[in-house]
Amino acid sequence: MTIDIKARLEQTAADIEQALNELLPNPACGGERLAEARVIDAMHYASQGGKRLRAFLAVETATALGVDRGRALRLGCALECIHAYSLVHDDLPSMDNDDLRRGRPTTHREFDEATAILAGDALQTHAFTLLADPRTHENAFVRIQLVEVIAKASGAMGMVGGQMIDIEAESAGSPLTLPEITRLQRMKTGALIEVACRAGGILGKATASHMRMLEGYGRDFGLVFQIVDDLLDIEGDADKVGKAVGKDANAGKATFVSILGADDAKKRAKHLTEQAIAHITPLGHRGLVLAALAEYALDRQN
Ligand code: IPE
Ligand code: IPE
Ligand code: MG
Ligand code: MG
Ligand code: MG
Repeated sequence: MTIDIKARLEQTAADIEQALNELLPNPACGGERLAEARVIDAMHYASQGGKRLRAFLAVETATALGVDRGRALRLGCALECIHAYSLVHDDLPSMDNDDLRRGRPTTHREFDEATAILAGDALQTHAFTLLADPRTHENAFVRIQLVEVIAKASGAMGMVGGQMIDIEAESAGSPLTLPEITRLQRMKTGALIEVACRAGGILGKATASHMRMLEGYGRDFGLVFQIVDDLLDIEGDADKVGKAVGKDANAGKATFVSILGADDAKKRAKHLTEQAIAHITPLGHRGLVLAALAEYALDRQN
C-alpha cells in the first residue's frame, strides 16, 4: 500500500481549519459584535494555518483504532488550540520576539501584545472546554484522562517547562550539554507531539501494549521534529517556512545543531526517525501512516 502522506496531511489540515471555525467562540451574537470580540478575532487569527501535525497524529491514531473522524477532529482541534497558544506566546517580544508566523504577521504584530497574551490564554482554556465536552467522548472517564495527559504535557513538566529552560539557556554562562538539550527539546516540543499520539490512543481505547508503541513513536518523532525545526532555522527558506530563519544562533539558543553541528544533527534525526518507526512496526497496517509521516517530516521544507 502506498500512502500519499502529503495529500492526507492536506485533507486533515482542511478538516481542522473548518472544525476550528465552528468550534471556536463566535465574535458576534445575533448580528451584534460582542464587547470582547477582539480577543476572539485574535484566537481565530492565531489558530489559522500551519501543518496541523499534532492534530494529524491524534486523528490518524484514533481513526486507525476505529474512532469516528468527527470526534477525532475535536481532539485534533484541542491540540491545535494549545499549540497555537504556545506559538503566540513563543513569538512575544519577551520570548523569541518574532514578527512572522505561518507567513503572516505574528498575533501581537497584527493585534497588540495584550490581545495576543489574552488570545493565547483563551486558546489554552478553550482546548479543555472541547475535551470536557461529551461530544468528544461519551465516557467521562475517557474525557478526564484526555484532560489530565494533555494538561500535564502542556504545563511545567512539559511544553512550558521546556520553554523556560530554552529561555534561560540563552543567557546561561556555559552551553547546555547534550543530555540537557535532549531533555529541553523533549519537553518544549516532544511532550505535545507524544501526547497527541497518546490521546489518539486513549480516545480509541488502545491496549496497554499498543499505547507503549505509540508513546515510543511519539517520543522519538517529537525529538526529530524539533531537530528539523532547528535545522530549518539555519538551512531553510523564510518564504517556505513562513517564519524568520537564522535567529537561533544569534539568540544563543541551545539546539542539537548548536552543539553537534548540522551534519551530526541530521544523522541523529535520521537515526531517531528509524527508531520511531521501529516502535510502531508491530502495529502492522495500523502504523503505516505514522511511519510515512515520520519519513516525510524528516525531509520537510516547512
Ligand atoms: C513550530 O511547530 C514550533 C515547534 C514546536 C517546532 P510547527 O512546525 O508544527 O508549526 P505549524 O503549526 O506548522 O505552524
Ligand atoms: C518553540 O520552539 C516551541 C514551542 C513550544 C512553541 P521554537 O521557538 O524553535 O519554534 P519556532 O521556530 O519559533 O516555530
Ligand atoms: Mg522559542
Ligand atoms: Mg520561536
Ligand atoms: Mg525554531
